[in-house]
Amino acid sequence: MGSTDLMNGISPVPLTINDKVYVTIRNYDREIDKSRVEDLERRCEVGSADSMFHLFTDTMGDPICRIKNSPLYKMLVAELDNELVGVIQGSIKTVTVSSCNQIIVGYILGLRVSPVHRRKRIALSLVRSVEEWFITNHVDFAYMATEKNNEASVKLFMDKLGFIEFRNLSILVNPVRHWVINLPTSVEIMKLKVEQAELLYGRFVASTDFLPHDIDTILKNKLSLGTWIAFPRGESWCDHHLETNGLNGSGLDAADKPGNNWAMLSVWNCGDLFKLRVGRAPMSCHIYAKSSRVIDRFFPFLNVPSVPDVFNPFGFYFMYGLRCEGPDSGPLMRTLCQYVHNMAVRNDSCKVIVTEVGEWDSTLRLHIPNSKLLSRPDQDLWCIKPLKTDQHNLDQEKHTALFDLTGTKPPTSSFFVDPREV
Ligand SMILES: CC(C)(COP(=O)(O)OP(=O)(O)OC[C@H]1O[C@@H](n2cnc3c(N)ncnc32)[C@H](O)[C@@H]1OP(=O)(O)O)[C@@H](O)C(=O)NCCC(=O)NCCS
Repeated sequence: MGSTDLMNGISPVPLTINDKVYVTIRNYDREIDKSRVEDLERRCEVGSADSMFHLFTDTMGDPICRIKNSPLYKMLVAELDNELVGVIQGSIKTVTVSSCNQIIVGYILGLRVSPVHRRKRIALSLVRSVEEWFITNHVDFAYMATEKNNEASVKLFMDKLGFIEFRNLSILVNPVRHWVINLPTSVEIMKLKVEQAELLYGRFVASTDFLPHDIDTILKNKLSLGTWIAFPRGESWCDHHLETNGLNGSGLDAADKPGNNWAMLSVWNCGDLFKLRVGRAPMSCHIYAKSSRVIDRFFPFLNVPSVPDVFNPFGFYFMYGLRCEGPDSGPLMRTLCQYVHNMAVRNDSCKVIVTEVGEWDSTLRLHIPNSKLLSRPDQDLWCIKPLKTDQHNLDQEKHTALFDLTGTKPPTSSFFVDPREV
């Protein structure tokens, strides 16, 4: 969607209480809202109220940056007496869920309400307005992610708006150190051409829940730094198993096909879009972080857990499309992650490498290097809500998809975290 479309669609919605016009919700207008949204973002922490760490987002002059790589997107603002008091973003795309090849989903993100205007149902009205925009665009399911201990957000979406939990992911964070890690010589790492990456995604990531239909546009985006594959050195990439899986004759040369044990991942440079900053941390945290970096720089062999400078705006790499194949592929994934770390060492503003994994991804959880201090195990709560409640509107296949996603059994299939929605 182009910027002109942003101005169409939703007409201003006045929210009334006791017949008095209270808050107006309308489309974001860069001319008049840019600096006010940035100011609101600076004043709104994300996370639980009692947490020691509060995360703030610096959108570097473009408040819509987090969604602008999505196929269809919208940002809404809430105004009260000409003051901008709330903001929300939404994006729409088509994804696959195991039992259904074609569902249209709307992602809700960037919900912020001014701290001095909270508990006035402003967030409730903003979410409902985005849901209306989703419905106009034939969205089957709305979904969102929040930190499990963000009580305000969990209560708003689950208790008030009827969202249901469907995934619980761990955010794994690995600090970028000052030095390059020596990689094992027994592992070969190869960067794939975009067309090769597309083929591997089509073959090996296709069954992942929420894989977007426009994965090719993600892989081709300039923020996508590339897709890499690791396999044991000296082992042929080509074997009978994969040939019968159809990679032969599909554009990959025989020498470009993975063997029995291999790992792949792609990297997205979030730091070129927006920066993060940890605010309101106690002085002891600043002192610990600084000392840990000094020790890590001069005595790396001590392996003291290093905390990067996250108190000033910092960039990060997001690893997506992680896939391990074969019984001994875990260490290959570890080596790939170390390779990404070494890439990040050359990028001054990149302070951490982030990825998300679920409980079903046991090999990934075990082998992705991460800091216990910075990671958030099982803290990222993903919730979903069907928007077409009418039986005639939501066909059987989509009912099954919703049941598969929200059923009582723990999920067994992987979940694709879209780097455009980080
Ligand atoms: C989460 C946030 C957007 C809520 O905004 P808000 O305008 O105050 O929320 P609303 O007034 O619309 O609340 C609607 C319902 O949500 C729940 N809720 C909202 N804030 C709550 C809180 N602090 N504690 C418990 N429940 C809360 C309540 O059920 C509330 O209904 P009620 O007032 O009738 O009890 C706001 O606290 C905020 O901007 N937080 C920081 C950014 C953030 O965490 N965003 C969410 C990221 S997903």
